[in-house]
Amino acid sequence: MTSNPRNLTRHAGAVLRRDRERLLGQRGAVIWFTGLSGSGKSTIAHAVEQRLTAGGRLTYVLDGDSIRHGLCKDLGFTPADRSENIRRVGEVAALLVDAGVLVLTAFISPYGMDRQRVREIVGTDFVEVFVDAPLEVCEGRDPKGLYRRARAGEIAEFTGISAPYEPPEHPDLHLRTGSQALAECVTAVHDLIAARGLLRA
Ligand code: ADX
Repeated sequence: MTSNPRNLTRHAGAVLRRDRERLLGQRGAVIWFTGLSGSGKSTIAHAVEQRLTAGGRLTYVLDGDSIRHGLCKDLGFTPADRSENIRRVGEVAALLVDAGVLVLTAFISPYGMDRQRVREIVGTDFVEVFVDAPLEVCEGRDPKGLYRRARAGEIAEFTGISAPYEPPEHPDLHLRTGSQALAECVTAVHDLIAARGLLRA
């Protein structure tokens, strides 16, 4: 076997990521929200997106519930399928970063190894945000009624009930949505994005 068995060559364009970033006046990056279902990932990601957009930034939200209707509709919730889900999302996020976009992702992403792999795919512009809420709080919110169904045994391998969640050991930001209000969380994420220099090319 040769080192390039599929005979593929990357085509380097004349327009580079930094050219696109200069055009947009920002840096491409991934803000990766991880946490239990119902912890507030999507709510925070969309609220941060609104704030960034109002400030003239180009953003894009990738969200488990929507991506699983299209790109990942063939995947379920076994550990292998979740890994593949996160791998694909990581690759898409990396492409968007190359386009200069501030990408906000909202996936449970329960396995530390899968999140680490995305960090490796994306590179340095990966910001991990742990959206932390105790299981009782998420279960009490139960916005989609899924915890109730999981407890009733109607949904297998449900994160927090019958499937694991590995909390990040060293997140870039740790939000506690059981005690912090949405506005406070949004400001914390926005401030971190600014502090990382992502709002200047
Ligand atoms: S992940 O584990 O692969 O990162 P992802 O974020 O895409 O999950 O999807 C999670 C969403 O799928 C949940 O918010 C919930 O609405 C739905 N869901 C359906 N079945 C499960 C399950 N077994 N475990 C967790 N979430 C589930």
